[in-house]
Amino acid sequence: HALREAISAYIDMPKGMILAGNGADELIDLILRVFVGPGDGVLNCPPTFGMYAFDGALQGGRVIEVPRGDDFSLDVEAIEAAVERERPKVLFLTSPNNPDGSLTPDETLLRLLRLPVVIVVDEAYAEFAGHSVIQWVRDYPNLIVLRTFSKWAGLAGLRVGYGAFPENIIQHLWKIKQPYNVNVAGAAAAIASLEDVAYLRANVAKIVAERERMAEELTRFDFLRPYPSRANFILCRVIGRNARELRDALEARGVLVRYFNKPGLTDCIRISVGRPEHTDRLVEALARV
Ligand SMILES: Cc1ncc(COP(=O)(O)O)c(C=O)c1O
Repeated sequence: HALREAISAYIDMPKGMILAGNGADELIDLILRVFVGPGDGVLNCPPTFGMYAFDGALQGGRVIEVPRGDDFSLDVEAIEAAVERERPKVLFLTSPNNPDGSLTPDETLLRLLRLPVVIVVDEAYAEFAGHSVIQWVRDYPNLIVLRTFSKWAGLAGLRVGYGAFPENIIQHLWKIKQPYNVNVAGAAAAIASLEDVAYLRANVAKIVAERERMAEELTRFDFLRPYPSRANFILCRVIGRNARELRDALEARGVLVRYFNKPGLTDCIRISVGRPEHTDRLVEALARV
């Protein structure tokens, strides 16, 4: 109750539209439990966060993939055609997208909201983007927006996420949610975070500034093509050398970056934005590998 009250003030949405979860992950699972039975379609746009396809398959859903383009933009026509053809129950959009950090343009979302499908916009990284569509949930009965304390507030291990849901959907989630899904420590940490939003926003601003500096630094290396990111990481295409080997070489120098052995990403590495000295260490290591 107190947590939902605090979230309501933070996002300026009525408490009755907010549900908290054991991480945004639990809410993804609950949404799929509400909407998807065996054989029902779940529309996913990879490369993206893995839990939509994972939880969709757990429900016995049919995961329909409409891949993103080389620049990670959505293929809007193909999504429209897939909704028409397959009649999926749910469409997941991640904005900013993990792993590249691109935002879904507002006009794209507006167009997709006309489709007969529930759209879940996962805004796990919204605070780093300075852009959110959470207010749109007031106006669209087929829109859900998910958020989390894991990234901007640094509480990933405490497991607190939340969503804004239209009235017609939230009532069904209440029926199936575990009564004590958010633990007391997590709720206390999230409420304390919201009592000191100015401090956390200042951290976010530092990370955003560092992201821009890091993006600039990365362009110096002709074997890296960084994608513009609105999140707290930068994805780079690795040109003319093996991405996995580059990851290993950086690791040997004490710099950990993410390599994904997944379609569309096998020639990429993703680098988290840290403090300026972390960027300096990264650049030093890149100059030597
Ligand atoms: C896009 C996206 N959504 C959701 C999550 C999970 O958030 P939580 O820790 O709140 O379960 C992540 C974490 O990596 C993510 O990248």
